[in-house]
Amino acid sequence: MPDLTIAAVIGSLKAASVNRAVFAAARELMPAGVELIEVSITDVPLFNEDVEAVGDPAPVTALKDGVGAADALVIFTPEYNGSMPGVTKNAVDWLSRPFLNGPIAGLPVGIVAAGPGRRAGAGVREHLALTVAMTGGAVHGETHGIGGIHGSLTDGALTDHETRAALRSWIEGFVAFVRDRPTGD
Ligand SMILES: Cc1cc2nc3c(=O)[nH]c(=O)nc-3n(C[C@H](O)[C@H](O)[C@H](O)COP(=O)(O)O)c2cc1C
Repeated sequence: MPDLTIAAVIGSLKAASVNRAVFAAARELMPAGVELIEVSITDVPLFNEDVEAVGDPAPVTALKDGVGAADALVIFTPEYNGSMPGVTKNAVDWLSRPFLNGPIAGLPVGIVAAGPGRRAGAGVREHLALTVAMTGGAVHGETHGIGGIHGSLTDGALTDHETRAALRSWIEGFVAFVRDRPTGD
């Protein structure tokens, strides 16, 4: 029975997503008592206030309930054109509703970006941190970027020792950030 549950949103719909590989490694590297659970965005529709007005579609309810039930959220995302992919932004937009009262408001949020470039997704990490802050999410100031990702993968899995050690170190910092936050009880 975990004492801390962290929801994971993977901002890529690609089956062989490198960010999914990083998520899989992160799940293995979680400290004892901490569970990382994916909350799927695969079937989440594009945000539309008219749709929202008549009730959240089932995949949106599942997303909001999954994140709302967790103690924290980590977003694993690629960088597209120097910023976040539409699917990542779309998930955050749904999670932000109702504004400042959605499941992401007040939630500790970690940001991890992996890609082939040397800048390790610096653009998406910066932009996503600003977006999540707008929603009332408590962004962990230290984001984690993995550049040159293909050199760290073997058969689609994150196997490179140093890359895994750096990810583990970031996870430990994020878990400390989550545990140190006031609970309000
Ligand atoms: C539309 C598009 C834009 C991209 N822009 C960037 C970029 O700005 N920076 C970067 O490092 N990689 C960029 N890439 C490459 C992605 O990082 C790469 O495809 C990566 O594998 C995507 O992550 P995923 O495998 O988890 O889906 C882009 C890819 C696409 C399809």
